[in-house]
Amino acid sequence: MIKQIDTTSENNSLDRVDGRVKVTGTATYSAEYSFANLVHAVLITSTIAKGHITQIDSKEAETISGVLAIVSHLNSPGVPGYGTAKQPPERAGMGTSFRVFYDSLIYFSGQPIAMVLAETLEQANYAASLVKVTYHIEKHQTNFEENLSKAYISPGVLRNKNSPFQDYIRGDRDALDKSKFKIEATYTIPTQHHQPMEPHAIIAVWEAADKLTVYDKNQGVKSAQGNLAQAFKIPRENVKVNAQFIGGAFGSGIRVWPHTVAAVLAAKMLNRPVKLVLGRELMFSSVGYRPYTVQKVSMGADSDGLLTAIVHEGIGQTSSYEEHLERTILASRVMYDCPNVSTKYRLLSLDANTPTWMRGPGDASGMFALECALDELAFDLKIDPLTMRLRNYANHDLERNLPWSAKGLKECYELGAEKFGWKNRSHEVRSMRKDGMLIGYGMASSLYGFHRHPSKARVVMLANGTVIVQSATMDIGPGTGTAMTSIAARVLGISPDKIRFELGDSSLPDAPGQNGSSTIPSVGAAVHVACEALKKKLTELGDAMPGSDTASYADILKFHKLPELEVTEESRSGPERDQYSMYSFGCHFVEVHVSLVTGETRVKRVVTCADVGKIINYKTARSQSIGGVVGGIGMALMEESVMDHRYGRYVTSDFASYHIPVHSDIPQIDVLYVDKADTLANPIGAKGLGEIAIVGVAAAVANAVFHATGKRIRSLPINVEKLI
Ligand code: MOS
Repeated sequence: MIKQIDTTSENNSLDRVDGRVKVTGTATYSAEYSFANLVHAVLITSTIAKGHITQIDSKEAETISGVLAIVSHLNSPGVPGYGTAKQPPERAGMGTSFRVFYDSLIYFSGQPIAMVLAETLEQANYAASLVKVTYHIEKHQTNFEENLSKAYISPGVLRNKNSPFQDYIRGDRDALDKSKFKIEATYTIPTQHHQPMEPHAIIAVWEAADKLTVYDKNQGVKSAQGNLAQAFKIPRENVKVNAQFIGGAFGSGIRVWPHTVAAVLAAKMLNRPVKLVLGRELMFSSVGYRPYTVQKVSMGADSDGLLTAIVHEGIGQTSSYEEHLERTILASRVMYDCPNVSTKYRLLSLDANTPTWMRGPGDASGMFALECALDELAFDLKIDPLTMRLRNYANHDLERNLPWSAKGLKECYELGAEKFGWKNRSHEVRSMRKDGMLIGYGMASSLYGFHRHPSKARVVMLANGTVIVQSATMDIGPGTGTAMTSIAARVLGISPDKIRFELGDSSLPDAPGQNGSSTIPSVGAAVHVACEALKKKLTELGDAMPGSDTASYADILKFHKLPELEVTEESRSGPERDQYSMYSFGCHFVEVHVSLVTGETRVKRVVTCADVGKIINYKTARSQSIGGVVGGIGMALMEESVMDHRYGRYVTSDFASYHIPVHSDIPQIDVLYVDKADTLANPIGAKGLGEIAIVGVAAAVANAVFHATGKRIRSLPINVEKLI
């Protein structure tokens, strides 16, 4: 039969297939495509948070050489898909998204209000500095804490009986009152911004009056294609979105933002390619953020530490013109074996831009609260926090009353505790010290829902036996091409260097955007089934030729005079999704050292463990886990977008003021996986990893800080001011 090579071991740790082009700078990112005739666009943004524009004086700017146009609501030809409905009839209209250059209304500071188009970037920048905007200013509300009483339940949620964000009650509503032991605490997550290395950028090119090509930083070429087709009222197939290389995103690229539409509009007006790159400061007001949240968790238990009640109420930030809902309170319904659970979720509209999903959206915030609260209760009961979690281990999903498809969380706890040396922890706070530093051990669990969407993959074997695999999926950094190459190599039994994976192009077979940790579960499954189909065809062709025992794939194609062989397959979930509850699970163990004198907190060690089903490629998976932990350390100790509420404007508007971990902040991180296929999830047995990697990390750090210092810091980030 066809010659097979053993790819199971080495292929489980492929180097990044695009590593070389990335580190040598030959990978082309959105802003780097070159066009003769390119126009440079610079946005002018609102300096007030609420009100309206009374005048835009661009006379002087228009005289600058090279300036081609200055676009605003005064002269915009309009975006056809925006329609003419008043937006909004009153200033707090919900469910409509922001329409760029539409009218004079100002909803947030940093809102794009005009755009200078010029021959060079310098000309555009200089001209933009000369445009004078006058406003009628209204009083804005940007302070979350001061507006808590205005939190409301989303009208859309109220209308939709099936919304997970409806108020939820399971079991006895008086269970908390009846509990022998209880705690109640409020946890605060500040606004955090994704801030990937590569800023958002677009080059828009109209190939014809109804034919558009964009080179755009985003996380989903197919959804961007659909959104732009809708906005400009042209057929979907006439829009081509290219996003082959993305320098990080963490969720900021899931939506099509106003600046993207603005660039496309400008290109249409001038009938020339237009390039727009957001500067770092605009990255704080243009592409979403993790919403500010305040969560109250009450928890009751009996003297053995068995949970008797969980009450979790969350309020999340949204904008005045749009609703953003996320999973903040949902994990509390499924994480533990607790019969009596209630949750509430509310929104609070502020005069700021709309938040969006940021790595582990909802769960990273919610599990911070839940996992800190559980730690607080365990400490009061003098029960080891890990023991507490094992005592309340949920053997099925109590929310949906379904069995898990697979749950290796117990194995995670065991593997992690062993590697970390959890047994060396003494229960009392401030009980472990070394060299003038307080030592703290903390841990937390993590979970993340399973997302699998219908996906297609095309596999083409060329005459020489090399293979091209294609899907309109994305790589925002995890190494999608590498994992897909690994899957194809294993199924086809050929060397990975004979395979090329193509992505980031909307003309390729349908695939979801890279979000919700859905890429491997969805597209990985499609690549798997497409390669199996190709292999079946090749096997049949091979069986029909003499001497097939030693024939290679190339020999088979040659014998049958086939220049190439191609299959396209789709893969999607079946009824199992309604019969089983599917999640990724994990846990983190953290050691912190806190200075007795200065309160300086250093994370010294992290052991992170996950059960995400089968690990497709160890090397890139490990990088994902490490990246998630780094993000979690940033969330715990540093990240905070600080606003000056007098102006409704962020004062953290660069990397000097918005702190993220640097290399010396990051310790040894050990990554462990259960690595057992979840055969119910999909044909490759793999679940999502990218988001769960960050979920729970901040709680583990906070719990370690408590163990070290005896101080519960419930408001992130845990910085020196809060500790001393
Ligand atoms: Mo993830 S926040 O869905 O990029």
